[in-house]
Amino acid sequence: MCGIIGYTGPLDSKKILLEGLSQLEYRGYDSAGIALCMENSRIQLVRHTGKVSNLKKGCEEISQVSHCGLGHTRWATHGGVTTENTHPHKAGRVILVHNGIIENYHQLTTDFHLEGKLLSETDSEVAAWVLESLYDGNPAEAISKLVSHLKGSYSFCMMFEDHPGEIYAIRNVSPLVAAYTHSGSFVASDLTALIPYTRQYFVVPEDHILRLTSYKVHLYDLDLKEQEPEILEVNWNMDAAMKNGFPHFMLKEIHEQPDALKNTILPRLAKGLPDFTDDQIPDYVFKDCNQVQIVACGTAMHAGMAARALMEPLLRIPVTVSIASEFRYEDPLVDDKTLVIIISQSGETIDTLAALRLAKSYGSRTLSVVNVKGSTIARESDYVLYTHAGPEIAVASTKAYSVQLAALYMVCCRMALVREKYSVAEAEDFMKKLLDSIPAMEAMIEKRDMVKALVTHLINKPDAFFIGRGLDYAFSLEGALKLKEISYIHAEAYAAGELKHGTIALITQEVPVIAIATQENVFLKTISNIREVKARGAFVILLTKEGMNVEPGIADIQISIPDIGDRFTVFPIAVVLQLIAYYASVGKNLDVDQPRNLAKSVTVE
Ligand code: M6R
Repeated sequence: MCGIIGYTGPLDSKKILLEGLSQLEYRGYDSAGIALCMENSRIQLVRHTGKVSNLKKGCEEISQVSHCGLGHTRWATHGGVTTENTHPHKAGRVILVHNGIIENYHQLTTDFHLEGKLLSETDSEVAAWVLESLYDGNPAEAISKLVSHLKGSYSFCMMFEDHPGEIYAIRNVSPLVAAYTHSGSFVASDLTALIPYTRQYFVVPEDHILRLTSYKVHLYDLDLKEQEPEILEVNWNMDAAMKNGFPHFMLKEIHEQPDALKNTILPRLAKGLPDFTDDQIPDYVFKDCNQVQIVACGTAMHAGMAARALMEPLLRIPVTVSIASEFRYEDPLVDDKTLVIIISQSGETIDTLAALRLAKSYGSRTLSVVNVKGSTIARESDYVLYTHAGPEIAVASTKAYSVQLAALYMVCCRMALVREKYSVAEAEDFMKKLLDSIPAMEAMIEKRDMVKALVTHLINKPDAFFIGRGLDYAFSLEGALKLKEISYIHAEAYAAGELKHGTIALITQEVPVIAIATQENVFLKTISNIREVKARGAFVILLTKEGMNVEPGIADIQISIPDIGDRFTVFPIAVVLQLIAYYASVGKNLDVDQPRNLAKSVTVE
């Protein structure tokens, strides 16, 4: 939530900041602004509501070149979408941009006598004024004092009027990466803004002060002792963060799924079996536990739901899935015999991170499934399984979901093997089927026009239902989330057998039902439930497997996926569900990649 960029160096900072903000816009797009350090230390602020394109227009008349500046794209938390609430904020000599939430901003306003000074409703401006109050000419000292007053999460980038050409930064929870290159020094919320300039970067450690000059990046601990950053190498290229001819990132990312799956699975296959040696995950992690607790949010949580439906019957131990924002305030039944699996694309989702920390405090072993290298969740987990999806830019998660599933399926297979629920031959067969899901996904991507055609039955409807049983129910949850998120059609996922206990009252001719029936063991039961909604006039879109016999008249439209074994149907089904949401959003002429009210990385509670 919120994208931050800072640059100092020989190049034109305005251009770099605006390009960087376009790359970071998916993190928040309510308003955007930049602060440029001009000649004689004059600071020029330009701030606009709406997207970065508005800011770009607003910057057109700036002719003087600046070599140092800060930029911010906002996802509003405190205060509405107004120019005053747009970052950067200027407080006396301090210019500041912020990602996160300062929880005690009210108290700070009183303690530092800020009433009358504040021009915005934001917690961020309060932080800027507190910093100004603590500032006596030494920025690093003032920042070190500032953090002792703050409660909450933050990444801040700051300039000080009397230190032209320098940028300071600090973070707690909210992400920041930095790099020094021959073209100058950079700091940003994530790598997508840095990748045009460098392949080497470092994750700013929490509670460390960063000082950028055009010559070097310095890192200090809070006692102001200089530290050596741990340099990492980017493992994807700029193409991965571009649309490359696709009209939207979401469509591109749907198409990237077969390759993403290969990248996640193949390096971990040894003699046809899942092998986590290179990930440094020893087998005792999988053996020495008597329950599995999965924790995540949103789509990642839905990947966990599908994995649970596979794991529990196979491993014969309890597997529970919890929503991270609930789990973190419960007194969860986890202990040192619980394997806690944390799933997060960004590795920064604040509730998921808090859940990880809670699980560790209970003595549980933690394994995270994360896409972003070096992210906080990855760094704090006992073990990490990186998914190799490359950057996911569209707010609606697609490829991250399928690689999370692939990683979890491999974990499940390895657990079954080491816990002697699977013979080697059974595990090999499982992995073979997992690989078969790649061409099955490709086949469904090929059939995209068929999906495109069916959305005419959805886009003028206010509501839709997704129904299924067992694994199909887990897939329905994700299908409904995708549709809601980008087409703004209210969609509910329901266990097909549960509808008749009240909710079927909502089914009319005006409510299309997307029924998923790929599981042999409950197929006939789901068909009965489809008959029930059909009898109430619903328009039924049935997603099933090739070879499953459905009587005429049960469904209005039927789409069949290749038969690759019931447990693996999620992969091709996910493609169909993603395409339904995608084409519904396109059909309604909506902003597919940046739907309203949302942001990609949820770093606030
Ligand atoms: O980065 P994370 O995987 O932790 O994000 C969790 C959710 O915010 C995320 O999956 C969200 O639900 C999706 N963007 C929805 O498409």
